[in-house]
Order: sequence, then structure tokens, then C-alpha cells
Amino acid sequence: MNTRRTAWTVIVAALVLVGGCAKDEGPRYVPLPRPADPTQPMDTVHFSSEVLPIFEAHCWVCHPPMGNGMDLSPTNAYNELVNVTSANWAPAMRVVPGDPEASVLWNKVTFSEVYGLGMPPSGAALTMQDLETIRTWIEQGAMNN
Ligand code: HEC
Repeated sequence: MNTRRTAWTVIVAALVLVGGCAKDEGPRYVPLPRPADPTQPMDTVHFSSEVLPIFEAHCWVCHPPMGNGMDLSPTNAYNELVNVTSANWAPAMRVVPGDPEASVLWNKVTFSEVYGLGMPPSGAALTMQDLETIRTWIEQGAMNN
């Protein structure tokens, strides 16, 4: 029957529309169960080998080594972030060990708009995997490891 085919067309079109919107406007970060397998301990995230490369690839354009503002280079990033008061949103801290929601950094990379511009402000946002890495690093105490 034709009506049946029409109904399917409408349903498929609706799904495509909804899917399209979800892709553009959906949450930037959907938390994974923590730990993913409750019988296993969570992998430790390493600042030097996992978090720093994200900064180098996506943030150095504007937060360069030895720049005037926040320096996200391997030498200085840790000391510029962890337990450091934000320049623009004091008394909020850039990174509060164990507490992503209270960290300016986390709010910015997830575009929460609690602390102004999301990061990076132009170009591609961080991938879900990069966000997971940063969040887990903060949750595990934002270690200099
Ligand atoms: C196109 C330039 C640009 C890029 C790329 C960029 N930023 Fe920023 N960022 C800025 C500007 C400008 C500010 C100051 C205004 C503000 O705080 O929103 C800022 C501020 C910040 C702050 C707040 C500093 C404070 O004192 O609290 C954090 C944290 C931050 N950026 C992290 C990042 C991270 C992480 C990346 C990479 C994922 C990144 N930014 C990429 C331009 C950029």
C-alpha cells in the first residue's frame, strides 16, 4: 500500500532529521560508566603522554610555549593549570584535582559556557576520546605523571 510506504518515508525522514540535530547540538560529552567494567580498575591516565599531546595538537596555536598568557607547553602546562586561579574567573581554579565540574579547563573544553568561551573557540572541538582522557586525568587527582 502506498500509505504504508509514505508512513515509512516520514519515519525515516524524521529519524534523519533528529539524528542530524543530535549530531550538531547534542552534548559534547557523554560520560562512560566509570569504570567501564566495574570488576576492573580504571586505567591510569598519564599527563605527560596522554594529556599534553592534546594541548600540543589543539591549544598551542593560542596558548603557546613561552607565550604571554597561559603556557601549555610540556615544561609549564602542569604548573599553569593545577590549583592555579583562573585569570578571568577567579576565584575559580583552572584545574581542581578530583573535580572536573569545578575546573575552568573542563568547563571550557566541554563548552559549558559557565566560564565564557569554549575551547578551542574555533575549529574542531576535542573528540569524545580526548575529553574522556582529560576528565579521567582530573578525576584521578590531576597528577603530574
Ligand atoms: C583560537 C585561539 C584559542 C585556542 C585554539 C585555544 N584557546 Fe584557550 N583561550 C583563548 C583565549 C582568547 C582565552 C582568554 C579568554 C577566555 O578565558 O575565554 C583562553 C582561555 C583559556 C582558559 C582559561 C584560562 C584562565 O585563566 O582560566 C583555558 C583553561 C583554556 N583557554 C584552555 C584551552 C585549551 C585546553 C585549548 C585546547 C583544547 C585552548 N584553550 C585552545 C584562545 C584559545
